[in-house]
Amino acid sequence: MGAVAATTTARVEAGTGQMPRHVAIIMDGNGRWAKKRMLPRAMGHKKGVETVRNIVRAAGELGLEALSLYAFSSENWKRPEDEISDLMGLMRSFIKSDIDEFTANDVRLKIIGNYRALAPDIVDMLDDALERTAKNSRTTLAVALNYGSQDELVRAAQAAAAQGAITAQSIEANLDTADMPPLDLLIRTSGEQRLSNFMLWQAAYAEFWFTETLWPDFTKAELARALDEFAGRERRFGGR
Ligand code: IPE
Ligand code: IPE
Ligand code: MG
Repeated sequence: MGAVAATTTARVEAGTGQMPRHVAIIMDGNGRWAKKRMLPRAMGHKKGVETVRNIVRAAGELGLEALSLYAFSSENWKRPEDEISDLMGLMRSFIKSDIDEFTANDVRLKIIGNYRALAPDIVDMLDDALERTAKNSRTTLAVALNYGSQDELVRAAQAAAAQGAITAQSIEANLDTADMPPLDLLIRTSGEQRLSNFMLWQAAYAEFWFTETLWPDFTKAELARALDEFAGRERRFGGR
């Protein structure tokens, strides 16, 4: 008894215990996971894809409306060519192997970021996957590819200006995440505590949760722990 029951009671009394609608994850630490095992970085990325698969399943099982995953940043082009090509190869095989499961599990795929700058065959595969999952509605999975939030904000501001006035509402309506629920919880693995150009606007009132766990070792149980801690957070949005 005791601790757990008391905490739950306290949360219920405080009117919290809320579930996040939209969770975003900065999936970091694949390279360090591989290094620790004296494996090539590519093996860390490969294991990282397995974690993506598990966490997408978990998100559905835990009842999340939306999950956003930072997969490739607009700055990741600075990496050596062979690593970029490993990552793109994994992207191809992931789309091939997992889109059927998305359809079966009612997952709608969404891509945020300027993905049209990727290789033409990947763009085609993604467009096909987007179309095939467009009517799914249980969970939205937003994969950030060639995503940089500063770039996203510049594009949103330009679109807003072209439509008329630049306001918080018009910028927000033109973000890549426009049709998603507000971001509630932002997780970053691997011990780094920075945004690395991810969801700068969306994170305005999101709760942050950091773990030392390297992405390939991240599990559904740890995601559930983050949700549990989120439930105990007091969100104020500037009010009192
Ligand atoms: C995250 O792992 C995956 C991508 C950024 C594509 P990293 O490759 O950044 O792993 P570390 O940070 O070097 O350990
Ligand atoms: C952020 O991780 C990008 C992704 C997880 C895709 P990085 O590993 O690229 O970030 P920095 O360079 O450590 O800030
Ligand atoms: Mg990293």
